[in-house]
Amino acid sequence: MPKLTYLPTGATLEVAAGSRYADVCRREDLPQPFGCTVGSCGTCCVVLVEGYERCDAPSAEELETLEMCTSEKHTRLGCQLVLRGDVQLRPVD
Ligand code: FES
Repeated sequence: MPKLTYLPTGATLEVAAGSRYADVCRREDLPQPFGCTVGSCGTCCVVLVEGYERCDAPSAEELETLEMCTSEKHTRLGCQLVLRGDVQLRPVD
C-alpha cells in the first residue's frame, strides 16, 4: 500500500492505491486546505517533495490552474491528486 507523509504534521499514513488525496485528508482530518474541490481555485496546491513521478500526470486544466498559483516545481492540486505510490508532500507556501 502506498505511504502518504503529510510533512507539516509528520503524519505518515498507509492508503489504498488509487485513493484520492482529498478523501484521505477528510478521513484522517489532515489540515490541508481545500476550496472548490474541482480544480479551479488553487487553494489546495501541494508540493510533492517526494513521489511526484509516482502520480498520474496532471491534466491540461490542472496545469493551467497550477500555473496561476505557483512557480514551484512538482506541484499538484490536492483535489485532483490520486495516490498510486509513496509520496511526501506539503501545502505550497
Ligand atoms: S480545491 Fe480548488 S483547485 Fe483544489
